[in-house]
Amino acid sequence: MPKSETLDFLKEHNQHRIIQHYQRLSPDKQDLFRRNLEGLDLPLVFKLHREFSGKETPAHLPRDIQPAPIITVPATPSELSFQEKACAQGEALLRENRVAVLVVAGGQGSRLGFNGAEGAFLVSPVKKKSLFQLFSETVLALNHRYRTAIPLLVMTSMENDRAVKDFFQAHNFFGLDSGAVLFFTQEMLPTITADGSLILKDETHLFAHPDGHGGSLKALHKSGLLSELIRGGFSELFYFQVDNPLVKIADPVFLGYHRMAESEFSLKVLRRRNAAEKIGLYALINGKPGVIEYSDLVPGSECLSEGEGARFWAGSIAIHILALSFVERLNRQGFILPYHRAVKITEAPGPGGRVEKATVWKFETFVFDGLLLADRTCCVETLRAEEFAPVKNRQGEDSAGTAAQAISARARQWLVEAGSSVAFDVPVEISPRYALDKEELAVKLKGKLMAIKEGAYLE
Ligand code: UD1
Repeated sequence: MPKSETLDFLKEHNQHRIIQHYQRLSPDKQDLFRRNLEGLDLPLVFKLHREFSGKETPAHLPRDIQPAPIITVPATPSELSFQEKACAQGEALLRENRVAVLVVAGGQGSRLGFNGAEGAFLVSPVKKKSLFQLFSETVLALNHRYRTAIPLLVMTSMENDRAVKDFFQAHNFFGLDSGAVLFFTQEMLPTITADGSLILKDETHLFAHPDGHGGSLKALHKSGLLSELIRGGFSELFYFQVDNPLVKIADPVFLGYHRMAESEFSLKVLRRRNAAEKIGLYALINGKPGVIEYSDLVPGSECLSEGEGARFWAGSIAIHILALSFVERLNRQGFILPYHRAVKITEAPGPGGRVEKATVWKFETFVFDGLLLADRTCCVETLRAEEFAPVKNRQGEDSAGTAAQAISARARQWLVEAGSSVAFDVPVEISPRYALDKEELAVKLKGKLMAIKEGAYLE
């Protein structure tokens, strides 16, 4: 944008503080500042600010919320045989090299108090492997098992892109072919104060934040990777968040259910610990399957009331499969996901340049809102102990400590089911390259019974 247009635009939106700052910069820095502004969708953020002004947070819940259909953990012979069929179909997709894997890792990890590569967190209980190492080794093991070459896509943001790439490079891509790890970057949106002012981050940048994981659907397209995958014959995208070390990547059963339902957008759910657990609620929203974010579930919401807890049990753990043709169609049609507002208190330079506390708004889109745009969806129940132990907080619940315990507990359970004995309080870890699931572990152990009394690592 030419200089005069930039100034006019900022004036129009009452950004006098930013204009004053800009006018004090040297011509070179003014150019740099303007170039940085061009990377940000300022009109969008002003529009969103107008729309959200005067609105309450959390947003009002839709009026019609009902429990949604779910394929629950099989309990009857016919459900078990359906599951076997699903597994065979999912395995066929993997063997045919139709499945790509995407980990979204662009978030700011604010609850973790962390700005770098969240995936570099060391979580495994014995070998202290990072999240990225666990995911990469799982993909390696899947490639080996299904004689396939699954691309691992990693979504970063401008804030952590360098750190994520350096981390993979420093570890030789954890044994994966470097050409099969595909990075792309999501967009940023300016952060804005509640009264509508943009905030300076430094001399030539505004404060901005990643635009939410819903941004992955557009960024995948813009990066060219979506068409590359489709051209390469891939049809399904297994999607998960970087914070969950227990995720069963490219689970063939889930893939199979997804395929049999000809689903465009599938998700996994589990039983919420309680109504206050910070996970999204899966339900029929005005008749369509969708997810209501936990922050919108205020006390008093009908689906939180005592009696309703049993009906509304399904929490989304942000594990999805998306048909690539669906993502392609959305982009072709110029889709829009709704923006959500997060209200935060942060430190920002005030009118006199002094750093002070300010209430700011961050606008984000959520990938699960894509469910409402899909023609066919599919939802599958999973078990927490098998598949969900997120690292969200520095300490306490859902931290690296609880995730390490969960990895150990799952390994212990698999070993016990295979006939071994494991002391209760010792850390145990099974490398994904040794066994991806309890069935594989049983085969590997070939009836050998182990008695594990101290920390153990199976590789
Ligand atoms: C998220 C889900 C919630 C789900 C829970 C399961 C949202 C809004 N909510 O909650 O419904 O039940 O996980 O663990 O996501 N990320 C990006 N780019 C972004 C924002 C986030 O890649 O712009 C990634 C983060 O790196 C992280 C994940 O998305 O891996 C989750 O983001 P976060 O904002 O921490 O969501 P949660 O509150 O954990």
